[in-house]
Amino acid sequence: MAAHPGALLTTDEITAVVDLLKQQGKVGDDTTFRRVSPAHPNGFDDRRIEAWLYHAGSKEIEELVVSLTDESIVTERTVTGQIPQFAFGEVGAAQEVVRSSPLVAEALAKRGIDDPSKVQVDTWPTGNMGHEHEKGRRVTRCIMFWRDDVADNGYAKPIDGLMAFVDLDEMEVYHLDDIGNWPVATETNNYHHGTVPDRDDLKTIDITQPDGPSFTVTDGNLITWGNWDVRAVMDHTEGIVLQSLAWTDQGTRRPIMRRASVAEMVVPYGETRASQAFKNALDIGEVALGRTVNSLTLGCDCLGDITYLDSAWCFDDGTPIHVDQAICIHEEDFGILWKHTDSHSGTTDVRRSRRLVISSIFTVGNYDYGIFWYLYLDGTIQLEIKLTGIVTTQAHGPDDSLTYATLVGPEVAAPIHQHLFCARFDMEVDGPDNTAYRVDIEVDDPGPDNPFDNAFRAVPTRLETEQQATDVVDAAKARTWRVINEAKTNRLGQPTGYKLLPADTATLFPFRARIAGRAGFAMKNLWVTPTSNDERFPAGDHVTQSEPNNQGLPTWTQADRPIADTDITVWHVFGLTHSARPEDFPVMPTEYARCTWVPFGFFDKNPALDIPPGSHCH
Ligand code: CO
Repeated sequence: MAAHPGALLTTDEITAVVDLLKQQGKVGDDTTFRRVSPAHPNGFDDRRIEAWLYHAGSKEIEELVVSLTDESIVTERTVTGQIPQFAFGEVGAAQEVVRSSPLVAEALAKRGIDDPSKVQVDTWPTGNMGHEHEKGRRVTRCIMFWRDDVADNGYAKPIDGLMAFVDLDEMEVYHLDDIGNWPVATETNNYHHGTVPDRDDLKTIDITQPDGPSFTVTDGNLITWGNWDVRAVMDHTEGIVLQSLAWTDQGTRRPIMRRASVAEMVVPYGETRASQAFKNALDIGEVALGRTVNSLTLGCDCLGDITYLDSAWCFDDGTPIHVDQAICIHEEDFGILWKHTDSHSGTTDVRRSRRLVISSIFTVGNYDYGIFWYLYLDGTIQLEIKLTGIVTTQAHGPDDSLTYATLVGPEVAAPIHQHLFCARFDMEVDGPDNTAYRVDIEVDDPGPDNPFDNAFRAVPTRLETEQQATDVVDAAKARTWRVINEAKTNRLGQPTGYKLLPADTATLFPFRARIAGRAGFAMKNLWVTPTSNDERFPAGDHVTQSEPNNQGLPTWTQADRPIADTDITVWHVFGLTHSARPEDFPVMPTEYARCTWVPFGFFDKNPALDIPPGSHCH
């Protein structure tokens, strides 16, 4: 029997999909698998898996959807002229090719480096800087770092100025850029346990739940906690995804979001040095987070009474890869939920807040991204990205400028950059048909209606079409957005809804650069589109070496389709602008970027009045 349409992908299912595609003649000698992932749960009840195949001979990408229930291909589409994301095996192969290249060895020897086995090779997406030599090729641009030994932190010792271009179909170094010879930094900057003496003043923190956690996981991935229920899945590209999120209110299950994910991110860099300026990664579409997911360790990644879910992804050749403990589910105490001290009666009421945490961690080269989804007792839904790992580095010589970089070690600097995430929220507040509003706070002019000059008010604007909904954060207007169901009301007659609280967040700064045309989604903080299964990735389905032609959200929304009182998807762009600190080195303390949905008239009143006082609260 096929799994639930919202189930986590298993290795058995991957094998079934691969076998079915082989039987149907879809897999040739030159075919590799680039995306095998559960299809978006929209408009069908059977178990559907999406598979993207790359045929190296014809350079075509074939996008297929397979029904495991019917054991058949549901849809298929051939894409030409676009470049698929790297295959996983290509990355390791390209590193070896660079290390064994005579061309590279010669350039390294000029720098006094004679042992290529100690050279760390990072395979970057080449960024599509418009180079003639890249046209018609699938290319990774490899940059290099020195490691004294296998565990050494290479980012402390960049071999700057040297870039090897590997053609991934030919699997050879076909071009080398050697734009300058910076000395390799000599200071070792490691962070592993034992590199500095341990402090001894921290006592143990144990999180204990003697009665067990308050959530249950049934049917594989259906998580129920208090009034909430949701499924957690792992998408090949996006990583951890929430599906079918709902709140049960006095026996009635009320949907809120059909699917919530981080659909893309862009990381543009501001350093002008040619060895750095190409860096503008699309770390989700180019890399595919699902295959970089960490296997989590109890007591390290997650503390407390943890339930883990496993995940699976498909290697290039169709081999299923199982990942133990890929998704972590647990509860966290979160301080005070609500409190009042009544000075008239002398009574105090206080309730503890807690949240359900559903999270995974992904490693993309030098960086580590945690995607944390939080559900709260008061109906709040929060997405938090935790950014850690190691900043990418450049060599710093005595004559170099630090206009676009921060010195983080004696001969090492970290260029300024951004991490802009595009969250995709397929909304269904109390049903599929929703309407989005912009809400600005406006100050009234002086006049007879404003006799004390104090008037300010919330002004909602109904967003009728896609162009009206293309928006940016405006702190001066305390701008928020609201998604309501115009057909459903609370006991006060107000439409039920949720409000999106953006964080302080900038849009893409290098707006004149080629990356702005490849990641146009990041030029705005908000987009609203009619939900479509064909519109899932805001920079396009195939972003590797994509042309700066505004594919994805900027093109879709040119149609200016109606978005009121229909099935809508809200796209929110948020993130960090990272002017690196010395304290970010040699490994970066976690930085946070988040956005929050709070109920706005979804309930009749505070839905958390029924939380009992804590058992330790006397
Ligand atoms: Co950063």
